[in-house]
Amino acid sequence: MVRRLGKVLIDRQRIHARVREIGRQLSQDLENDLRAEGTDAADSPDRVVMVPILTGAIVFVADRIREMPMKLSMRMVTVSSYPGQSTMSRGAALRGALPQDLGGRHIVVVDDILDSGHTLALVKELILEQNPASLRMCVLLDKKVPRKHEVTLNYAGFEIPDEFVVGYGLDYDGYYRNLPEIVTLELE
Ligand code: IMP
Ligand code: MG
Repeated sequence: MVRRLGKVLIDRQRIHARVREIGRQLSQDLENDLRAEGTDAADSPDRVVMVPILTGAIVFVADRIREMPMKLSMRMVTVSSYPGQSTMSRGAALRGALPQDLGGRHIVVVDDILDSGHTLALVKELILEQNPASLRMCVLLDKKVPRKHEVTLNYAGFEIPDEFVVGYGLDYDGYYRNLPEIVTLELE
């Protein structure tokens, strides 16, 4: 099956404006949490941890953390769900170890897109076992499909229809992650 790039669904100006908004909102919400527990947001040792899901979240998280003027650290998690030239979700599998020091901290899981919900449901369940102080789920794209796993999102950049998209971190068969906009992928 040959696929080619289709139309631009979300251009870079819209992406950047929304990423900035989400960064500000997230910072405010985390600062409120820190204030409530009596910690200083600007200088609190390792209270806030970003957990981007590799590889798709890298572009989104890189842009978004630069909109967050607070002390934070990052722990990467690798989950695979679309092996090779498939565009159908086949469940999610954790690759490698989950960071084990998330307990008691404010955790923000970051992914590129919520589709069937397998990935975020798995990561959420595993992180909750460590009893974080708070857990937030943040995605750039929320694909409007009937979900296998309902996952509550705290922050979502854009709702998109049920189309396969690439760009801004999202790939097809490992490619197109470097496109600056979100583009549909179509059958030739
Ligand atoms: P889920 O487990 O079905 O929710 O899928 C989430 C993962 O599948 C995301 O982290 C993406 O890596 C990948 N994915 C889902 N939809 C798309 C898409 O339209 N384009 C590229 N990757 C996608
Ligand atoms: Mg992914």
